[in-house]
Amino acid sequence: MTNAKVFITRRIPAAGLDLLRGAAELDIWQDELPPPYETLVARSRGCAGLLTLLSDRIDGTLMDAVGPQLKVIANYAVGFDNIDVPAATARRIPVSNTPGVLTETTADFAWTLLMAAARRVVEGDLNTRGGQWKTWGPSILLGRDVFGATLGIIGFGRIGQAVARRARGFSMRVLYYDTQRYPEAEAELGAVYAPFETVLAEADYLSIHTALTPETRHLFSTDQFARMKNTAILINTARGPIVDEAALYQALAHGQIAYAGLDVTEVEPLPMSSPLLQLRNIIIAPHIASGSVQTRDKMAIIAAQNVLAGLNGQKLPACVNPQVYAK
Ligand code: DGY
Repeated sequence: MTNAKVFITRRIPAAGLDLLRGAAELDIWQDELPPPYETLVARSRGCAGLLTLLSDRIDGTLMDAVGPQLKVIANYAVGFDNIDVPAATARRIPVSNTPGVLTETTADFAWTLLMAAARRVVEGDLNTRGGQWKTWGPSILLGRDVFGATLGIIGFGRIGQAVARRARGFSMRVLYYDTQRYPEAEAELGAVYAPFETVLAEADYLSIHTALTPETRHLFSTDQFARMKNTAILINTARGPIVDEAALYQALAHGQIAYAGLDVTEVEPLPMSSPLLQLRNIIIAPHIASGSVQTRDKMAIIAAQNVLAGLNGQKLPACVNPQVYAK
């Protein structure tokens, strides 16, 4: 097994790399930027394992180029929309993600954006640095209350529920929409299921926690912004393409909604030509919601454990396409 080659598409934390050293021949991409697709294909050729990031496109063409010895693709993320999973399943290649370990860290960050947007913290900091803080004033940078407001959550899986749990400390009314109901979480968290349109219409804060699928691409567009309160604040820590950015720009520029806090954008990194950067009423973070030291270590460990299992011919602990194990 030590001859098995594993391509790791970025320097992940040592906590994960140390598990793999000695178990396989590791090829680690050293650049901060992702390998270009052609390089990714070339370096992956002949590998038994791939440890990939959300910025790497892993499609059927790449899988075929790697060869039939490919036993595992372990994504260093909970989301895996960068991987063509049906293509992997058709080739009986197990794919894994890193569920669970980044739930609380991501929920913390959704709240970071929510609070920062509600109280205009980034604008305040820019004013201070720009010498525009002249005095205390009754109407300077007024925000919106969080305490007692209505929080709408779209996608009520682990992260959505962790966001709802935090809302209890702010005495918020929590509405959620998902394609399925979560009766236990409803009882535990006091969250109320409501149709999508109701959540849109009633939320003061709306936080997105659904996966990116063909159904959720541009789930938020002109029509949805028109249904929201003009005081509403939209938070997205899920995937950028869930929000139609051209429509978001119009909604923010014309006061259809009040503010947005994004950790993800349709194209990452956000092009400097994006009109969103002209707006004051938006905060855009560079996809760092899971970015705590502890969580990134845990993600590295889970990804490495999945690679090891795959190389050993064992079932991946965090497999997203268990159909590959069907007889
Ligand atoms: C994920 O894991 O999907 C996040 O977007 C990055 O940690």
